Amino acid sequence: MRAVVVEGFGVLPSVREVAVPRVAAGGVLVRVEATGLCRSDWHGWQGHDSDIVLPHVPGHELAGTIAAVGEGVTGWEIGERVTTPFICACGTCEQCRAGNHQVCPDQLQPGFNYWGSFAEYVALPFAEVNLIRLPDGLSFDTAAGLGCRFATSFRAIRQVGRVQADENVVIFGCGGVGLSAVMIAAALGARVVAVDTNPEALALARAYGATDTVQAGTDVVAAIKDLTNGGADVTMDALGANSVVQQALLSLRPRGRHLQVGLLPSGVQLDVSRLIGQELEWLGSHGMAAHAYPEMLDLVADGTLRPAELITRTITLDEVPAALDALTAGTPAGVTVIHP
Ligand SMILES: NC(=O)c1ccc[n+]([C@@H]2O[C@H](COP(=O)([O-])OP(=O)(O)OC[C@H]3O[C@@H](n4cnc5c(N)ncnc54)[C@H](O)[C@@H]3O)[C@@H](O)[C@H]2O)c1
Ligand SMILES: [Zn+2]
Ligand SMILES: [Zn+2]
Repeated sequence: MRAVVVEGFGVLPSVREVAVPRVAAGGVLVRVEATGLCRSDWHGWQGHDSDIVLPHVPGHELAGTIAAVGEGVTGWEIGERVTTPFICACGTCEQCRAGNHQVCPDQLQPGFNYWGSFAEYVALPFAEVNLIRLPDGLSFDTAAGLGCRFATSFRAIRQVGRVQADENVVIFGCGGVGLSAVMIAAALGARVVAVDTNPEALALARAYGATDTVQAGTDVVAAIKDLTNGGADVTMDALGANSVVQQALLSLRPRGRHLQVGLLPSGVQLDVSRLIGQELEWLGSHGMAAHAYPEMLDLVADGTLRPAELITRTITLDEVPAALDALTAGTPAGVTVIHP
């Protein structure tokens, strides 16, 4: 099969023939029909993830068709249209038994722990725990985003952030995660302020439901305090940057909640006195468990959430090395989907 192969961290990958992955017991092989380009793929390529062993095939936000079913898997057949959370949980550990699959200590992530979906085929482990059947009306392109960024934002805004109607929510970074969060928070009735460096991304944020936008580089904190009548109830770092974290914490009103979704490979220093004195909540959020998907899929089916609108570009495997490289300088507005 053809795949995007990373031979060195930060070195432009090549697109070449590799062996089709083996189907393990309990897993399935999926013919990848669509796979999203997430900034986490860029982090992995840059060497920010210690799980990655070279040579490596990135890609973790995917949808496709089951091409082979491993030993012991029941309930799934060749030809079924599926997606999966990028966190493939084991299903049997203490956390999984409690329903917390997104923090399973035995999780496997395609494109991180093993070869991912920037390829014609990807192997998925623990199939009975993680596979999600795609409704007929849901395209592969749209479903790919449900494997990582749209679902991650759904859990962050809805379950971890507990966003309520009429709350002021500020989203820092309007790429795949941030635009999803704007759409989801707006659908819950929140008043959403979107922040980005890219005016085109801000225009998309307005189209997806942001009430106001703030151009990064200006006095962001002052602008947010002004727009939120003194401070946000909820902020989200949907980029992963120290400057954004600091702005977000300064933008919160007392007892506000901060959602950390963007990765911070170099860590960050927090003003803990402020967290204490203002009773701010610092909340990490990681993907979403497969069992939590039906609520999101119902909202997609009835048109409340419209993830299809986030896709602005489709590319081929051959275009992936340049697209990954371009993420070093910035992000094109909207979501990029790859057709292997
Ligand atoms: N926690 C999780 O489970 C999870 C899941 C998916 C992605 N992530 C992480 O979330 C982050 C976002 O991923 P993505 O694919 O949406 O990224 P992206 O590159 O698509 O989007 C980032 C956005 O931030 C904007 N930006 C740049 N500088 C800015 C600044 N100073 N202020 C405000 N905005 C700025 C960019 O213009 C872009 O629109 C990454 O760190 C990714 O690794 C985490
Ligand atoms: Zn991702
Ligand atoms: Zn587990």
